[in-house]
Amino acid sequence: MSGTTRSRVLAALRETEGYLSGQELCERLQISRTAVWKAVQKLTEDGYRIEAVQNKGYRLLSLPETLSAEELESRLKTRWLGKKVYAYETVDSTNNRAKQLAMDGALNGSVVLAEIQTAGKGRRGRSWCSPPGSGIWMSLILKPEFMPECAPMLTLVMAHSVAMGIRETTGLEAFIKWPNDVVVNRKKVCGILTEMSAEVDYIHHIVIGCGINVNIAGFPDEIAQTATSLLNEAGRTFSRAAVAERVLEWFEKDYEIFIKDLDLTGLRDTYNDLLAGRDGMVRVLDPKGEYNGISRGIDARGELLVEQEGKTLRKVYAGEVSV
Ligand code: BTN
Repeated sequence: MSGTTRSRVLAALRETEGYLSGQELCERLQISRTAVWKAVQKLTEDGYRIEAVQNKGYRLLSLPETLSAEELESRLKTRWLGKKVYAYETVDSTNNRAKQLAMDGALNGSVVLAEIQTAGKGRRGRSWCSPPGSGIWMSLILKPEFMPECAPMLTLVMAHSVAMGIRETTGLEAFIKWPNDVVVNRKKVCGILTEMSAEVDYIHHIVIGCGINVNIAGFPDEIAQTATSLLNEAGRTFSRAAVAERVLEWFEKDYEIFIKDLDLTGLRDTYNDLLAGRDGMVRVLDPKGEYNGISRGIDARGELLVEQEGKTLRKVYAGEVSV
């Protein structure tokens, strides 16, 4: 039985208050009674509590706190993103797995998840702390038709989607630290790593990896001052599936806005509203020489505009800025 049948049964049960009869399920999903029964069995094995009452039908009582393919697929109200979710217990890095899947023919919009990353990767060769079962370790596979030079802007698109998704599901005031960290109370809750396989004028695939610290209670000493989780900031746990769902739904919407102009024209205003330290003093950590200035938000290419004395604007293309 395909994961998709399970996802569809789960979606139907979730949408229904009270009982949903076996007959109704068969008709709605155009599947046999046996297929419904098998799907319910499998979901029960996966930790869903489903009550089955004669002459009434099935009722979903509780969900496991898993970030499984079924759980995410059954929630997503997207048109093309996450139509195929690959979920693993353990991988070295979801980005590495996504790159392999992309080369093996995975479709545009596929999503890769893992409970455990043994070698999670951060930007600039750093590692990413990914404790089991308490974060969203997720990579998106894209096979776009635009030119490779547009790809770096997708990282900013993703940061926008993550900040919006976190705000909606948790009520926390998530901001973006340029270019693509998402912070709450000035501490990092999400990092994004975009990787691409391309020729000079042709993209084979792009993988956008996103790590969201959801229910992590404590961090190693080296990052305890700068990293946080949604749990730490809100004082309660969150469903990882609910957060991932909203982030992906936002990304599909944001990506379609991006694709219209092939730049950040359509997202720039909301991105700038979410920008941490906007109109405040920042320090640009330029390897050719650090300097201070006032952050005036991004332009349509995603470059940070930093105003210096005499009102001259300098564009920051890459690198780090401390807010
Ligand atoms: C950063 O340094 O801020 C980027 C961190 C990106 C982490 C995510 S977790 C899912 C995906 N798989 C990886 O190995 N890295 C990204």
